[in-house]
Amino acid sequence: MEKIKVWDGFIRFFHWSLVLLIAVLYFSGEEGWMDVHFVAGYSVLSLIIARLFWGFIGSDTAKLAALLHSPKAVLNSIKSNSYTRGHNSAGSYMVLAFFCLLLVQGVSGLMTTDDILTDGPLVQYVASSWVELASSVHKLNFDILLIAIAIHILAIVVYRIRGKNLVKPMITGFSAGSELKDGEMKSGWWGFLILVVILSLVLYIWGLEPLEMLFS
Ligand code: HEM
Ligand code: HEM
Repeated sequence: MEKIKVWDGFIRFFHWSLVLLIAVLYFSGEEGWMDVHFVAGYSVLSLIIARLFWGFIGSDTAKLAALLHSPKAVLNSIKSNSYTRGHNSAGSYMVLAFFCLLLVQGVSGLMTTDDILTDGPLVQYVASSWVELASSVHKLNFDILLIAIAIHILAIVVYRIRGKNLVKPMITGFSAGSELKDGEMKSGWWGFLILVVILSLVLYIWGLEPLEMLFS
């Protein structure tokens, strides 16, 4: 069966870096390793912002416009078992939910305090009621994120049981399916370039102190 490119290099890098960084953020958050936590948190925020840019100028399968579907299409995609080039309709809403949850998590982190030693970089600029709210949101939203991750992995396992391997394309970039049509793929290097610019800026503005602590 002919192999078709479905995920460009940037989407795959984005996905697996996200998985790794969420694990790092969980452990560092729980253990109070705040320098690691801040650097990883800034990296996730930069990844998401770069991914949103890529959603406008990236490959067809990365486009944000391709993520909006009618409720009927969502139901049909749950019933059907064919390969889709890109996210299917139900998966698209999961992806949008992840983008929102990760943005809320990252932005609330900027205003979160541990009430002892460590403040997010925006704590000094906002009212204490906001800091209190953001600190609660940062904890509660993470639990919602964990539930979303569990549903995401369960869905992938269910597709696997129904004979559809979605993980391999997210690793190799290629999928096989006679019903798949070709579409426009962009070089993932442009996505990396956008990420490097955003990450450098964010680390320059907020990350120098935790980076210095990490490497001293
Ligand atoms: C921290 C945990 C995870 C998070 C936050 C996460 C998040 C995401 C996001 C945001 C996407 C959309 C990618 C994009 O278009 O930019 C996605 C897709 C995908 N993820 Fe994950 N993911 C996680 C864990 C996993 C794991 C452990 C696996 C493998 C078992 C996995 C397999 C996949 C696959 C196969 C897709 C593509 C689904 C499709 O074909 O539509 N994810 N994930
Ligand atoms: C975007 C991804 C992020 C994730 C997944 C994440 C996750 C977590 C988790 C699981 C905790 C432990 C909460 C608890 O004690 O129950 C935590 C704590 C914390 N996070 Fe994040 N975080 C992220 C980003 C950030 C950012 C960008 C900052 C600030 C720059 C930040 C600042 C903090 C602070 C100050 C705490 C300590 C709160 C406390 O001990 O009460 N986080 N985070």
